[in-house]
Amino acid sequence: MDKNYFITTPIYYPSAKPHMGHAYSSIVSDFIARFKRLDGYNVEFLTGTDEHGLKIQRAAEKNGIDPKKFCDEISEIFRNLSSILNLSNTDFIRTTEDRHIKSVQHLWKILEKKNQIYLSKYSGWYSVSDEAFYGDNEIKEEDGFNISLVSGSKVEWVEEESYFFKLSEWENKLLKFYEENPKFILPVSRRNEVVSFVKSGLKDLSISRKSFSWGIKVPNNNDHVIYVWLDALTNYISALNYPDIKNIKYKDFWPANLHMIGKDILRFHAIYWPAFLLAADIPPPKRVYGHGWILSGDEKMSKSKGNILDPIEIIDKYGLDPLRYYLLKEVSFGSDGSITQDKLESCINSDLANNYGNLCQRVISFNEKNCNLLVPEKNNFENSDLDLLNKVSNNINTMRSFIDNQELSSYTSFIVDCMFDTNKYFNDQEPWKKKSDIKRLNTIIYVSLEMIRKISILLNPIMPDTSLKVLKVFNLNQKDINFESIKNHESLKVNSSINKIDILFKKIEKND
Ligand code: ME8
Ligand code: MG
Repeated sequence: MDKNYFITTPIYYPSAKPHMGHAYSSIVSDFIARFKRLDGYNVEFLTGTDEHGLKIQRAAEKNGIDPKKFCDEISEIFRNLSSILNLSNTDFIRTTEDRHIKSVQHLWKILEKKNQIYLSKYSGWYSVSDEAFYGDNEIKEEDGFNISLVSGSKVEWVEEESYFFKLSEWENKLLKFYEENPKFILPVSRRNEVVSFVKSGLKDLSISRKSFSWGIKVPNNNDHVIYVWLDALTNYISALNYPDIKNIKYKDFWPANLHMIGKDILRFHAIYWPAFLLAADIPPPKRVYGHGWILSGDEKMSKSKGNILDPIEIIDKYGLDPLRYYLLKEVSFGSDGSITQDKLESCINSDLANNYGNLCQRVISFNEKNCNLLVPEKNNFENSDLDLLNKVSNNINTMRSFIDNQELSSYTSFIVDCMFDTNKYFNDQEPWKKKSDIKRLNTIIYVSLEMIRKISILLNPIMPDTSLKVLKVFNLNQKDINFESIKNHESLKVNSSINKIDILFKKIEKND
């Protein structure tokens, strides 16, 4: 079985500081990367910044800074955010790096060699904000401006010499590819959108610009820079040392298992990218998942709208793990969702403090009083014990398939159920009334401790720090845990010592 796994986030434009939307894509990707690692996979997890194009050139001009210097500064802020978010990325690519530039120019030459590129003239609409070309039928007029119906951003008219990629030749081949790979695009609703867009007809794609210079030069024609999306998408293979396809990274990790992106950039990833790759005889990625948006009110949170929430402010106030948990639990994965401080506080109080935190505290302090912080000897399990313990063990493959199908909300709600059921078990079993039946009392504690261990392992990819704090109770570190071990009901060694923990989550006083 192939135990390598390659997951990517979009590479973000360093045109302004990151906001909660960027944090969201990175956190959900990190969750999946960490889960796969916990399940024994060798995971490559790539993120980075997309630094060329007119959008960046204009942002730099507006700030009066040279574009490279401008990117150096903001890219560094994105890189720092990765560590603030506790991302387990194994690489961070910048499209201004040599390794990337070489790779893009090579891909261009291959496409040229395969007769996929020709020189002509582009005239049509262009959105600098989206770095996208739009057809006449995708434009409306509003307040004297021309606006893209697809994204709502302003477009400008462009007329210039340009190289084209023969995208129209790929229409039927793409449709066949989608049909043969029904899960290439998820969720299904997005897949249907893409399929009907392709069915409505593909025009050749302009892949170079002549009227500005901030980009990778077209080989053999330095008057042109390569279209920023052809440049950006190639990051996924340049980070694996393409065109050196014999090197171990490329061999192990291409095709990627998953490009995690927001639905705003689906067209580029699900149409242009596989077309470029197929045209160059490179296998396309296995999956593109277009997640929903973090909204601000009922609009997409975006730097161009200026309605942003700074993830760092939220983390400073509430901590990282509560934010990670919130985004994975409260935003139904695949759909749009929102974050407000009020909803975050409610989530911290109900799920984290009352449910998980309380479970850990009450079981450990009960153990302290009755078993001196030692794992007690257990007796035979009763049905009520096994029902609870098996709930996790019997679902281990279901949990794996949740992750493999990006059903992230199903994974998180399963954990919440387990926390709830374990609290309920502890209440119903009333171990405090069993002082005369010490064997039964011990078994109840043993089962509860085992459940805390299992739940904390399940939570590890979502809240790595908190999970490890709890697993320290059992003297377990990151390297000691793996997903498979949640099958075991008897992993805790009788008489081994357990450690107390501080309050995990403080309840937040609310005025309502
Ligand atoms: O599009 N909610 O970069 P970008 C959820 N450089 N996710 C959001 C979001 C929101 N409100 N706002 C942004 C680009 N995102 C290109 C990508 S990839 C080869 C090149 C996330 O800085 C989401 O993943 O505009 C979205 O697709 C991405 O950030 C766009 O970031
Ligand atoms: Mg954007």
